[in-house]
Amino acid sequence: MKNYIKHDNWNIIEEGFHVENNRISESLFSLGNGRMGQRGNFEEKYSGDSMQGTYIAGVYYPDKTRVGWWKNGYPEYFAKVLNAPSWIGINVEIEGEELDLNTAEVIDFKRVLNMKDGFLYRTFTARLASGKEVKVEATRFCSIVDDEAGVIKYAITPLNFSGNIKFTPTVDADVVNEDSNYDEKFWTEAAKGNETGFAYVTAEVRKTLFQVTTAMDYAITVAGAEQALNPTLAEAEKFVSQTVEVSAKEGEEVVFTKYAAVVSSLNHDKAALVDAAKAELAKIKAKGFDAMLAEQAEAWASKWELSDIKIEGDVAAQQGIRFNIFQLNQTYTGEDARLNIGPKGFTGEKYGGVTYWDTEAYCVPFYLCTADPKVARNLLVYRHNHLERAIENAGKLGFDNGAALYPMVTINGEECHNEWEITFEEIHRNGSMSYAIYNYIRHTQDYAYLAEYGFDVLLGVARFWAQRVHFSEHKNQYVMHGVTGPNEFDNNVDNNWYTNYIASWSMRYAQEAVDYVKANHADRYAELVAKNNFNEAEETAKWKDIVDNMYYPYDEKRDIFLQADNFLDKEQILVKDLDPKHLPLVHNWSWDRILRSNFIKQADVLQGLYFFEHEFDVPTLKRNYDFYEPRTVHESSLSPCVHSIIAARIGDMERAYEFYLRTSRLDLDNYNEDSQDGCHTTSMAGTWMSVIEGFGGKRVIDEQLSLEPQIPSEWEAYTFKIVWRGATMDIRVDHENVTIKNNTDVAAEMLVYGAKQELAGNGELVIPVKK
Ligand code: BGC
Repeated sequence: MKNYIKHDNWNIIEEGFHVENNRISESLFSLGNGRMGQRGNFEEKYSGDSMQGTYIAGVYYPDKTRVGWWKNGYPEYFAKVLNAPSWIGINVEIEGEELDLNTAEVIDFKRVLNMKDGFLYRTFTARLASGKEVKVEATRFCSIVDDEAGVIKYAITPLNFSGNIKFTPTVDADVVNEDSNYDEKFWTEAAKGNETGFAYVTAEVRKTLFQVTTAMDYAITVAGAEQALNPTLAEAEKFVSQTVEVSAKEGEEVVFTKYAAVVSSLNHDKAALVDAAKAELAKIKAKGFDAMLAEQAEAWASKWELSDIKIEGDVAAQQGIRFNIFQLNQTYTGEDARLNIGPKGFTGEKYGGVTYWDTEAYCVPFYLCTADPKVARNLLVYRHNHLERAIENAGKLGFDNGAALYPMVTINGEECHNEWEITFEEIHRNGSMSYAIYNYIRHTQDYAYLAEYGFDVLLGVARFWAQRVHFSEHKNQYVMHGVTGPNEFDNNVDNNWYTNYIASWSMRYAQEAVDYVKANHADRYAELVAKNNFNEAEETAKWKDIVDNMYYPYDEKRDIFLQADNFLDKEQILVKDLDPKHLPLVHNWSWDRILRSNFIKQADVLQGLYFFEHEFDVPTLKRNYDFYEPRTVHESSLSPCVHSIIAARIGDMERAYEFYLRTSRLDLDNYNEDSQDGCHTTSMAGTWMSVIEGFGGKRVIDEQLSLEPQIPSEWEAYTFKIVWRGATMDIRVDHENVTIKNNTDVAAEMLVYGAKQELAGNGELVIPVKK
């Protein structure tokens, strides 16, 4: 665990240059605007250890699969949202000496991620070999107002000399991915141009042929006076630069402002890319840095207005939760249904920047409560748009009649994952597609979505389950063999309780969708029946038979659900009895030893009890929690949040808080020792869930908002926000009261501790907190 980030309510602060943590800092200080993002790399040259990362959502390369032993059904490639052309470079030369923090003496250094206004600020004083000292202040952001643009203000002041400073702004498309399977470069040059006022590279992704034009323009002032530009132009393959030189006086600030446009063929015709980049640059340059920053701050204020969580009396917790919310909001804005949320967002290469079940299980609840419903809806539409591919994917595995298997990992709907025990067996993910639709509808009451898009997906998923189970003559019940549950430390099991449960639930919900669409949208229903070749009587009878006769492994003695058949045959050891030197198991044990053990990577039975809590009573939750948690090593970042929520539900606030801490500062304190690879963006939504659903006890019961707030003894108070059917509320919980303030004139109804409450538009409710 690291502890070098200074605690602060609104900022992530590194004081002093922690060279050894540079890769971690690069992850933590990442920026994004939903359309593009980048790691916290330096503008000026840095010859020390660094992982360069610039990413453009949706622009990917299908990197040829690399596996030891090919299995039929494996995908040909793993899609990677690849490291893209970089626009941040501004090399600096002072009287012939290059500024490089790896070789210069760094006298002081500070970087700050200003989460309130959405920018990255870095300042340092450096002494060059010649003894010349400069102070630098660099401010950078990806605009969330002009989401094809970014801007940098790079201010440099000579402290003990007067002399010439050369700036060389670059556009560099000659970039690599560290995780390239075959050490290939993914970009080729399609075009470039270099003239005063406009320099660009249009780079093309091999195979997918996406094109991206990255363009720059800039302005310089010395002591506030605008300088005429007379740059020296330079070019290389996939690279353009311009060098300008100014004469600077000791103590006078030179400001270099770099404007960048990043436009891609995802949104423009290839032939129009250069013009689009030119227009974007002209637009932002006319606005200027200060106006862009003011707009950025205003746009972020609106985001915080809907999504902030305020924690009083615990700065570390406050910083942790805001960092999570900030990362989620800069990763996905919901503007574009072709985009999604990679487990690392725009902060690193790991997981390829592509889509996992994390989105439906963890991220959808966040966006549902903190943004306009269209944001979560677009995440759902993304999967709807991939339905044909999911049907093809199931077809490759031998399923037919419209059965859909959504991929474990995807960018365009095709499966990318290539380990048989996950690709073919970790099929529980399919259920979370249905669950997300259910979640969306019960929050928004947008039932029309069912008829428009939801039905098709629910049908495809139900059809898959109906074919994936088989009837066991021996048990006289339906069973499901050869699966992997969310606990990836146990593969190829029979009857994973969670998978059987969500399969059966998906069929129940599909039936509800059939009934609803048929009753309320008869014409559309007829269309859907014809389009999907849906034999309602036969198929729904089959679903019902499975639902009524599904087998769920259960242990009578302990009165718990069994993670899978034979789970109790494993040697039963608790995590507390393991010598801590064995942890994390994934680094210290052979895979064989892990698979034979009873240790659980992440919530599995408990994932089911979390999703379907309303179908179980609290003693059942508690018995299962008490059995499974002590066997869980939480080696997925998605694990502690679910445990935190269930612990709060069963009244164990101490454990709930302990798990919350583990999830909330996971990256800031590098808890899992892997933040150098990028932040755990999707699990950040889980942290948010721990506060709202865990401590706040937020549920949707019978389509009504329900709150049962509790407060950790460590906090004085906390306030969270909920967007609920047109109303936006602030819910403040302290040790005396729950105060619910309606910030809109839309009235809201809800249950608080089970009692019905009516909240008038702009009204306030004060209810004593239940102890
Ligand atoms: C977890 C999966 C998750 C993936 C991406 C894995 O370690 O076990 O549940 O989908 O990471 O976050």
